[in-house]
Amino acid sequence: MAHRGGVLCESARWQGLPIFVKTLVVDDAETRDRFRHECRVLMGLNHPGIVPLLAVTSSQMIFPFVEGGTLRDRLETGPLNPDESTAVALGLLDSVGYLHSQGVTHHDLKPENILLSGGQLSREAVRVIDFGMSHARSLPQDIHSGTRMGTPHFMAPEQFYGVRGDPRSDLYSVGALLFDCLAGYPPFEDALGWLAGIHSDRAPWPGPDVLHPIMAAALSRDLAERPASVLELQGALEAARQQLGLPPTLWTHALDRRRGSTTCH
Ligand SMILES: Nc1ncnc2c1ncn2[C@@H]1O[C@H](COP(=O)(O)OP(=O)(O)O)[C@@H](O)[C@H]1O
Ligand SMILES: [Mg+2]
Repeated sequence: MAHRGGVLCESARWQGLPIFVKTLVVDDAETRDRFRHECRVLMGLNHPGIVPLLAVTSSQMIFPFVEGGTLRDRLETGPLNPDESTAVALGLLDSVGYLHSQGVTHHDLKPENILLSGGQLSREAVRVIDFGMSHARSLPQDIHSGTRMGTPHFMAPEQFYGVRGDPRSDLYSVGALLFDCLAGYPPFEDALGWLAGIHSDRAPWPGPDVLHPIMAAALSRDLAERPASVLELQGALEAARQQLGLPPTLWTHALDRRRGSTTCH
């Protein structure tokens, strides 16, 4: 199917089930370390919004195949409306909130790394993949020396300068994703220039006014001006949906998580 960065990605069938397989095909130390890092991070995760590892060997990771394509595939057909855009952002934040609670920062949230189960543009259809760039507090070493860089369009400025493991970097990416969903293109055409601090030439805010300050806060260069947590950003998005007359999108899992955290306090 595709061969990138020493890893072959292909769909297959296993015991009658459609699966997605990532195979290590170039065995240099850096590729192997990155592959193992992704395995180790994934092995510690269990959330309905994160595509799980079904099986793993020293050179293969096997996942269930999620039908429906990526958010990138969907955006290629045009932007989403405010209802769909905020529902996708909230679904993404459900998974990201779980990751942060586990001490994991994804660091590569972008439309290519988001699957839409069944092709649905709903909160519960969002599935996060690709932990190749992630940072996990529990793992002793951080394998990223800054040599591998993702697309600059969804990357937070501090990440560009090598800061790793700050959950607010993922919130920046969610802000950029929400912008991309509403506009059909990301906020900064010359993203590298913005990241390097050369300019601040952002495209005009897309979508309804009530969403503009939410995107502005998430896309702040200054980390202190961003939402402090996933729950804060989710709260702002839910309030905006209410102002727009859109129905609540809470789904069972999010409710369980909230009930759980209420009991703990
Ligand atoms: N479980 C899956 N089901 C269906 N398609 C998938 C699955 N996992 C990944 N893909 C597809 O394969 C692409 C590459 O997978 P990803 O894990 O992001 O690897 P890479 O490190 O090469 O970006 C994704 O952008 C998506 O199109
Ligand atoms: Mg990817």
